[in-house]
Amino acid sequence: MLLGHHKVMLIPGDGIGPEVIGATTELLEFMGAKVEFIHAEAGYGAYKKYGTPLPKETVDLFAEAKCALFGAVTTPPSIEGYRSPIIQLRQMFDLYANVRPFKSFELFKDYSFDFVIIRENTEGLYVAREHWKSDGIAIAERQITQEACGRIATFAFEMAKSQSRNRVTAVHKANVLRVTDGLFLSCFHNVAKDYPMIRVEEMLVDSTATRLIVFPESFDIILAPNLYGDILSDLAAGLVGSLGFSPSANLGVEHALFEPIHGSAPDIAGNDVANPYGTLFASCMLLEHLGEKKLANRLFSLLTNGIANGILTHDLGGRFRTSEVTKQLIKLEDIGYRSG
Ligand code: NAI
Ligand code: MG
Repeated sequence: MLLGHHKVMLIPGDGIGPEVIGATTELLEFMGAKVEFIHAEAGYGAYKKYGTPLPKETVDLFAEAKCALFGAVTTPPSIEGYRSPIIQLRQMFDLYANVRPFKSFELFKDYSFDFVIIRENTEGLYVAREHWKSDGIAIAERQITQEACGRIATFAFEMAKSQSRNRVTAVHKANVLRVTDGLFLSCFHNVAKDYPMIRVEEMLVDSTATRLIVFPESFDIILAPNLYGDILSDLAAGLVGSLGFSPSANLGVEHALFEPIHGSAPDIAGNDVANPYGTLFASCMLLEHLGEKKLANRLFSLLTNGIANGILTHDLGGRFRTSEVTKQLIKLEDIGYRSG
């Protein structure tokens, strides 16, 4: 291991994963990040090579490194018993909090918002317990536990406190799912009692979707069970401008994994057109997690500058290829240094 460097597992994955990861590691290296990346495999490519999408070496490496940067993986729907390695890692390492920040850029002048979606990351429908009850009747179980709801609610209120955010909105469908979402809500209110200075709000998941489109500025922290958080965050990414922009952190007690929120985008993979900003912003979150706050801030302002200066890929009407975005950002950082 390089002296004084943080050891971070790097999983490029499938499709555009290696392209956005390549753009990110190149920029981090240029900026002098004290990170030693250790390559690991996961995803459909790994499955084709080893017969499993999550080789044991990858699990062992994550156990030891405790920190990872992840691109994206392809999950083929037609292979029986196949489970997405990212969902497996979240559950195996109890990465219970999925944190997804969404902030509007000046480029899109109609909007001005800054909110975080906190998604419960270990249970709900993602326990993937499905079976056939009888011919033509399929059942999926949805697991909601007091423990998981309590700790994700505590996480949300603690984040509100530390980031000076003053409202937490719990998203649910307890009018239909009275038992499971009812438990989620009662845990939320229980935890809220310890944070009297923070406003609490409940909102049905369907009306949250409309409200996010019409009044995105009215949200601060959104707390959601697994599936609602997944869907609402893709919607919120659309508000920002592209699915390719948004980062996320999967946080547990000891382990942390950072990734863009998008998937492997097989429709554009291999064309050097993927938007790398989601992964670049994820690497900012990674640096902050590693205690490299100064570098994280420097990278964050370089990225927002890059966006303001039109260093964009095709999904946002930009003219740059994935690999060119990094080169342009490096140029911009160089100019910044020389001028000030
Ligand atoms: P997706 O997020 O890969 O793509 C949805 C749409 O957004 C596509 O049109 C794609 O071209 C576009 N897009 C996504 N990322 C982009 C980027 N960085 N720059 C420009 N455009 C971008 O979702 P989709 O198509 O539903 O799933 C594709 C595969 O990814 C599936 O196998 C799915 O299971 C997997 N997936 C993996 C995730 C992960 O690794 N964490 C998350 C979501 C899906
Ligand atoms: Mg998703």
